[in-house]
Amino acid sequence: MALVDRFGRVHDYLRISVTDRCNLRCVYCMPETGMQFLDESQLMTDDEIVQVVQAGAELGIRKLRITGGEPTVRRGLPKLVERLSAIPGIEDIALTTNGMTLRDQAQELKDAGISRLNLSLDSMKAEPFQAITRFGEFARVWEGLEEAVRVGFSPIKLNVVLVGGFNEGEIVDFLRLTERYPIMVRFIEYMPIGQDAKAWRKRYVPLTDVFTQAEAAGIELAPGTEVRGNGPAQYYRIPGAPGQVGFIHPVSDHFCATCNRLRLTADGRLKPCLYWADEVAVRDCVGQPEQLREMFFRALAIKPEKHEMSLAGEVLDSGLVPTLRTMSQIGG
Ligand code: 5AD
Ligand code: SF4
Repeated sequence: MALVDRFGRVHDYLRISVTDRCNLRCVYCMPETGMQFLDESQLMTDDEIVQVVQAGAELGIRKLRITGGEPTVRRGLPKLVERLSAIPGIEDIALTTNGMTLRDQAQELKDAGISRLNLSLDSMKAEPFQAITRFGEFARVWEGLEEAVRVGFSPIKLNVVLVGGFNEGEIVDFLRLTERYPIMVRFIEYMPIGQDAKAWRKRYVPLTDVFTQAEAAGIELAPGTEVRGNGPAQYYRIPGAPGQVGFIHPVSDHFCATCNRLRLTADGRLKPCLYWADEVAVRDCVGQPEQLREMFFRALAIKPEKHEMSLAGEVLDSGLVPTLRTMSQIGG
């Protein structure tokens, strides 16, 4: 039986948050201080994650993405990835990382079965990079990126969240980066999740700004060749450039109609939509494969048609309740 929800959307993609912890504190993701992290005992164990994924794979989950917090701070991540990649039905495992440990771990992660890599990189200058990430070290992440290229992840995508007052002045630099490297630079709209809505609105930058700045700099953006895969990005390219430019605009123009994903949180809940509070607890069902499968259908049964990020802080149409989790507790 396939994972089809009330709106006919087929789900074959599971994002797994393996930890809520992170070695950085990006301004759009977590407060600088005061975060309460899960205890070791509240974290799903490797065995539990493997069983949930097995149940999902029996129902048609084919692609996984490992997220966090920062997934590489989970102890023994490569071992977990190895086990996940051995599950029948799982065809592809991707990783989203901030790159702080990539310099040392890239090869091991590749060998364990990670094929595709998304690297969060919001600035290419040391100071703004540190301002956004609070503890990040640009030079170290850049070395991580070079190592990732060397060990052969393909493709490598850079996630650039545009945050007003921090990095919108680097849009052209990021566009030009695709002329030098065969990487995908993806601009992402800042989402109002785990944020004060007013503060968010002040910093939100619509992706139309990228087109405006490209035009002002005389940069042509032609349709890209990257086919739309699991994700919501639309791709463009600068003619002749080896890399491409992606646009992910959940706020200004949502892509919920083609959503194919479920999320598993580090504390063992299936989350049908990143924006809303509704979740289904799965951890208690570990050891009972039939019940685990049933939980996937329950998550689908409560999956809403769409999020309402653009209305953050205002009256919502649906009457649903937005999540109280920070982005680090969801995994993007
Ligand atoms: N808005 C948009 N993207 C975000 N991310 C984290 N928080 C937000 C937010 N509020 C991104 C990170 C990372 C991915 C997992 O999610 O940059 O690339
Ligand atoms: Fe950490 Fe990623 Fe959140 Fe930044 S966006 S604080 S790197 S989990």
